[in-house]
Amino acid sequence: MRIAVIGTGYVGLVSGICYAELGHSVVCVDKDPDKLATLQAGGIPIYEPGLKELSAKGVAAGRLRYTGDLAEAVRDAELVVIAVGTPPLPSGEADLVYIDAAALEIADSLRAGAIVAVKSTVPVGTNERVQGLIRTRTTVPFDSVSLPEFLREGSAIRDTLEPDRVVIGAESREAAEKLASLHRPLTRNILITDLRSAELLKYASNAFLATKISLINEIANICEKVGADVSQVAEGMGLDRRIGPAFLQAGIGYGGSCFPKDTRALIQIAGHVAYDFKLLRSVVEVNREQRLNVVRKLETIFDGELRGKTVAVWGLSFKPNTDDVRESPALEIMRRLTEAGARVRAYDPVAMPNFRKLFGDEGVDWCDAAEEAASGADALCLLTEWEEFAREDLHKLQTILKRPILIDGRNLFKEEDLKGTSFVYYSIGRPS
Ligand code: UGA
Repeated sequence: MRIAVIGTGYVGLVSGICYAELGHSVVCVDKDPDKLATLQAGGIPIYEPGLKELSAKGVAAGRLRYTGDLAEAVRDAELVVIAVGTPPLPSGEADLVYIDAAALEIADSLRAGAIVAVKSTVPVGTNERVQGLIRTRTTVPFDSVSLPEFLREGSAIRDTLEPDRVVIGAESREAAEKLASLHRPLTRNILITDLRSAELLKYASNAFLATKISLINEIANICEKVGADVSQVAEGMGLDRRIGPAFLQAGIGYGGSCFPKDTRALIQIAGHVAYDFKLLRSVVEVNREQRLNVVRKLETIFDGELRGKTVAVWGLSFKPNTDDVRESPALEIMRRLTEAGARVRAYDPVAMPNFRKLFGDEGVDWCDAAEEAASGADALCLLTEWEEFAREDLHKLQTILKRPILIDGRNLFKEEDLKGTSFVYYSIGRPS
């Protein structure tokens, strides 16, 4: 299939590269000259394991190219995938300016019989809106399809090439069948729905996963009070196939560009039809509170006085294996610490430059290695469970810190890791 992908953010880039990997002819379009220059020079503007190599493979095989010329890319395409950003407006609602602009521009070059698929996460009714906008500019026949994306950052290639399911929302049976054939090599779980259901089920899936996380975090908070261990509780819950073990990892809450944005957007979508999504509002509130858990623990340890203390922070990205710091819990935690007068010594294997751009330098020493950050600190907080932190020698670490205090915000370490050390160890929902 000849495919044009509009927008080379996470979703667009990974989808385009993976379609090329499947043997299709793909053109990825982006307006940002810097991004484009990076891509055309063989680079990748995001950190995603394996993506650069897969892109190079597609380009070398002549199946993948990057351009800034949308018209030229769309003119020949049998499938046009819209994967532009839908950033949140101050109300939490998704901003559709990029979607609208893409729709109008596509219309001018669309070939008859093409399929226009929206992969961006969009409010219910957006595919119909896109259809309407295209029809204001052209009379060529085309089909509209909603193709929600379920990949996770850090494991984007595997999630795309081996997805749990592919959802195709379509009005036309023929268009749905064409897209089903495109995705059949990836999974047998292909669900064809109407447009609106496909749009909603993407939000519903993220809302459900966010709810699982907030639920286990509240259970963890109760564990701390009653002397239970949330890891054991979660393990036992997860053995029930109706519950499942995934997304029951207690910690400092979810971040990233999806759960925070999509939960708020779904609350707005419900609000527009006069429905108060009480459960989801609580999920968001629990998550906002959960990240402060680490700060409260530090306050307890230091009798409410953080001024003059040095706190080492390990991990700044919202999860491991990504340089994405959007809505990372570390942002709020470090803001609270520095505002309270603590000095932070921060380290992350890849996300430091992005974090620094958002956070600024006030009150922070940026360190080149985990041990350097820990050196001379009054306490160490682990905020992202990068694998390299799990390999740290805790016996050595306790001699580097000024005080052997470790707050493990992701429950990365186990009891046996700490055996023989003098660490004062706090985690989330497990006995200290
Ligand atoms: C999430 C969904 O998992 C994807 O299916 C979806 O496609 C994507 O959003 C999206 O809408 O684009 P992502 O945000 O990349 O993917 O990462 P996740 O692995 O879902 O993690 C999200 C956050 O939840 C992270 O901050 C992570 O640390 C946290 N989390 C996850 C927990 O605190 N506990 C868990 O058990 C699992």
